[in-house]
Amino acid sequence: MLDHHTIERYELGWLVVAVVMVLLMFAGVIASMITETVPGMFGSPARYINPTQLSKTEFAAPGLKVSPDGSVNAYMVARAFQFQPNVLRVPANTPVTLHFVAADVIHGLMLGQGNVNAELVPGQVATFTRTFKSAGTFVSQCNEYCGSGHQTMSFTLIVEA
Ligand code: CUA
Repeated sequence: MLDHHTIERYELGWLVVAVVMVLLMFAGVIASMITETVPGMFGSPARYINPTQLSKTEFAAPGLKVSPDGSVNAYMVARAFQFQPNVLRVPANTPVTLHFVAADVIHGLMLGQGNVNAELVPGQVATFTRTFKSAGTFVSQCNEYCGSGHQTMSFTLIVEA
């Protein structure tokens, strides 16, 4: 038989465990709030632009841009219910930097090729630099529900040899 002092010690022990778990949960919530709101705290720095002012940015003319120094950038705009451009041709075996931004509501994309996966939050630029090794056609369906035309919203990446 356990005497009541021993039982109280057990109760106190488990009470401490429960309180520590609650505190850890709050610490996790606060840490995720900080990392979500401080651009670039982890990983590549996030860039924010005003989604209503895309016409004043490089997203004004979406598509592939090859700079004089040979760097290849693609600017992609997601808006209900299309990606602009909805077909992007990129060269194989060349680093390509893809920049995505949503103009209106949250959209999403996932390209199996190159592990490109992003939730596109209006105004938050998602950037990926990838070298596509093999030629092919890769389709990404918008994967965040964005309204009545969501299921028709897709984007095709064509990697050209
Ligand atoms: Cu865009 Cu769903």
